[in-house]
Amino acid sequence: MSNGTVNRTDLRQSERFLSLYTPPKIAGEFTGKHIISVEQFDRHDLQILFDATLSIRRRMRQHDRGLLQLTAGRLMATLFYEASTRTDLSFQAAMRHLGGEVVAASNGVQFSSIYKGENLADTVRAVGCYADVIVLRHPNVGSSYEAAYYLDLLREQVIRQPLVISGGDGIGEHPTQALLDIFTIFDCKHRIDGLNITLVGDLRHGRTVHSLAKLIARYEAQDTTLNFVAPDELRMPENVLNYIREQGIAVNETDNLYDVLGETDVIYWTRVQEERFEDPDSYEAIKDRFIMTPAVLAQAKDDVILMHPLPRKHEMGTPADHDALDADPRTVYFKQMENGMFVRMALLAKVLGGLWV
Ligand code: NCD
Repeated sequence: MSNGTVNRTDLRQSERFLSLYTPPKIAGEFTGKHIISVEQFDRHDLQILFDATLSIRRRMRQHDRGLLQLTAGRLMATLFYEASTRTDLSFQAAMRHLGGEVVAASNGVQFSSIYKGENLADTVRAVGCYADVIVLRHPNVGSSYEAAYYLDLLREQVIRQPLVISGGDGIGEHPTQALLDIFTIFDCKHRIDGLNITLVGDLRHGRTVHSLAKLIARYEAQDTTLNFVAPDELRMPENVLNYIREQGIAVNETDNLYDVLGETDVIYWTRVQEERFEDPDSYEAIKDRFIMTPAVLAQAKDDVILMHPLPRKHEMGTPADHDALDADPRTVYFKQMENGMFVRMALLAKVLGGLWV
């Protein structure tokens, strides 16, 4: 970790916590619950979160100072072992807009005791002694399950009852991104049912698409079709496909965007996750397979929405393409980004048991 990278042989070390720890279902009550997987949510929970987010957004627009009471006196710690702009800053902004405070290691996690070789279990418990909620991003699949497991043990020993919220666990899940993504679909389309939704790009390594696809299934969307467009090497993992099929959602897999583009109501474009490839040549061979440009978007429906979790690289063409796409009223990724803060405000207020909104 001292050089800012993670030894690849360690990447699987948190996976056993996926079976050791079962995240609590929300079942209408968010207070005191870790947020580590979209599997915790059902349609009713999502409706509660949508309503709370809409209320928070309205109040933000009105500069309602009552928002400052919602997490006043509460402390959020950020623990990011991987790069982040939107997730990190939107969580920090969310906590501050709610009247709460934020702490982080002064010089970033690489100069905390992680530099001395401290493991995740000890680091999260240390942070849990000081903060009410920890936002964790870590390269290991299952790392947020591991954090929740050890924080529950810690709760028996200390006064604080710290929570963890996953900000992404390697190629596993990114639950809060999926919450803001499904909220944005609802916000733009006023429904999730009956939509044709197309996820494109690196479906193998992209944690945002794993979580979003599963969350649409958790919503029990009626008459909704999910299209997965990816080259063979980057197909959606089997476990995610099985999960979605079990919930009765219709799924199409193809490597040809034009099989589905004309029917699509929601396009969710993604970056090829260069940092997840062991071999740079296989990244180079695949990186240009799907490129969204104004010419591609021209073939989509007039009322389609184009989403992207960002950051974007050349999967959205040249800087000139970026500007042209941004100017198209069908692109919603900046709205998505701003919604991320509102959704995270609603979630923080809910799990920390803030006065209700
Ligand atoms: C995504 C992530 O980190 O998984 N970014 C984000 O949180 N908005 C997507 C990506 O890095 O491609």
